Order: sequence, then C-alpha cells, then structure tokens
Amino acid sequence: MEAAKYLIFFALELLLFTQRCMCVRDVRLMLPTAVMSGHGAKFICLYDLQEAPLYSVKWYRGQREFYRYLPQENPPMKFIPIPGIDIDLYKSDANEVRLREIHSDLTGVFSCEVTADAPSFRTASASKNITIVEMPNLAPNVTVEKSLSDEGLSIISVNCTNFYSKPPGKLSIFLNEEPVSAQFVFPIF
Ligand SMILES: *[C@@H]1O[C@H](CO)[C@@H](O)[C@H](O)[C@H]1NC(C)=O
Ligand SMILES: *[C@@H]1O[C@H](CO)[C@@H](O)[C@H](O)[C@H]1NC(C)=O
Ligand SMILES: *[C@@H]1O[C@H](CO)[C@@H](O)[C@H](O)[C@H]1NC(C)=O
Repeated sequence: MEAAKYLIFFALELLLFTQRCMCVRDVRLMLPTAVMSGHGAKFICLYDLQEAPLYSVKWYRGQREFYRYLPQENPPMKFIPIPGIDIDLYKSDANEVRLREIHSDLTGVFSCEVTADAPSFRTASASKNITIVEMPNLAPNVTVEKSLSDEGLSIISVNCTNFYSKPPGKLSIFLNEEPVSAQFVFPIF
C-alpha cells in the first residue's frame, strides 16, 4: 500500500516535471538553397521556447560560429568575423541574420543553435546546406570554323567555352534554336 502511494506520488512528480521542462523545440530554418556570391541574404531561424527565457541563439558555418544573440548582453547581437561574410548587425536579431555579402568559399552547412536560459539550459539546432554561386562574368565564348570534307560536304565546328564559375556551368548547344544532339557534342575540360 505504502509502495503504491509512493509510486503514484513519483508518477505525479514526473508528470509535473515534464510539464515544467521548458525545452527548446521545433527549430526551423528559412534559408535560401543558393545565394549569388557577393550578394546579400536573409537567414531566418524560428523556434519554440515553450515559455522558457532565451539564453542564446548562435549561427554556425560548419563548426565555426559567426553570429550570436544573447538578450542579456548589450548590444545583444554580435558578429564573430569570418572571411567571406559581412553582416548588418542592426537588421539582425534573435530570429534573423541579415547578410550584406557572402562569398563562394562558404558553400556548405549553416546551422542555428538555440539555448534556453536557466533552469533547463536545453539546446536544439537545425542545419541546412547552402550553395554560394559564382556566375561567369562573361557570356560563353563561341568560335565557328567552316571546312569542306573530302566528299565536299561542309563541316561546321563550333567551339563554345564557358568562363570560370562555381559550381561549374552547364553548356547547352543550339543550332537554329534546336538543341544539338549529344552525339555531336564533345566536352573538353
Ligand atoms: C549537406 O550536404 C552533404 C553533402 O551532400 C551531406 O552529406 C550532408 O548530410 C548535408 N547536410 C545537411 C544538413 O543537409
Ligand atoms: C574567344 O576565343 C577566341 C578563340 O579561341 C580567342 O581568340 C578570344 O580571345 C576569346 N575571347 C575571350 C574573351 O576570351
Ligand atoms: C576553344 O576555345 C578556347 C578559348 O576560347 C581554347 O582555349 C580552346 O583551345 C579551343 N578548343 C578547340 C578544340 O578549338
């Protein structure tokens, strides 16, 4: 009988404790899948603190932290400089990091990590891959050569060269607006 009483008491206590646990949950990222190198972007991190006070929000590129928001500090937002990112701190807050500029070396995984304040200090995070795209700064270079085959047929060779880009560009060749069959296209790297 005594044991059953304790068991019920313990179960109640456990239930109250789980209800009291104000943990961070549902960390969600709203990030572009790709950003043009040298351009800005808005990185958004949404989360549910379940009424717990916020201790910190930290943003990472790979393992490296580049932004943190601690409401108890003044100012709460802080940029931890890493090459290739520039942040507008005054447009950044607990949910958003406003990038003025980002460069292509930073293609990779970006994460947002949210920590609730005392007593739980629970942490939750979310990550996403972002590609920073570097466009070729010139249109492809096209050169055309005409020659005659031994049978007297005219042969046209077209050389189409793409300029540097990241990730590498894909070239498609058209003749009078019709795509040229792959059997006539020879990729040269
Ligand atoms: C990012 O991409 C890499 C390579 O494709 C993959 O292994 C990794 O799981 C991805 N990470 C996330 C958070 O999507
Ligand atoms: C385009 O290709 C031709 C032939 O290879 C070359 O002479 C020319 O310099 C190239 N143009 C540019 C902008 O690289
Ligand atoms: C095609 O053009 C590029 C430069 O425009 C040149 O480097 C390359 O050698 C050319 N290739 C052929 C097969 O003519």
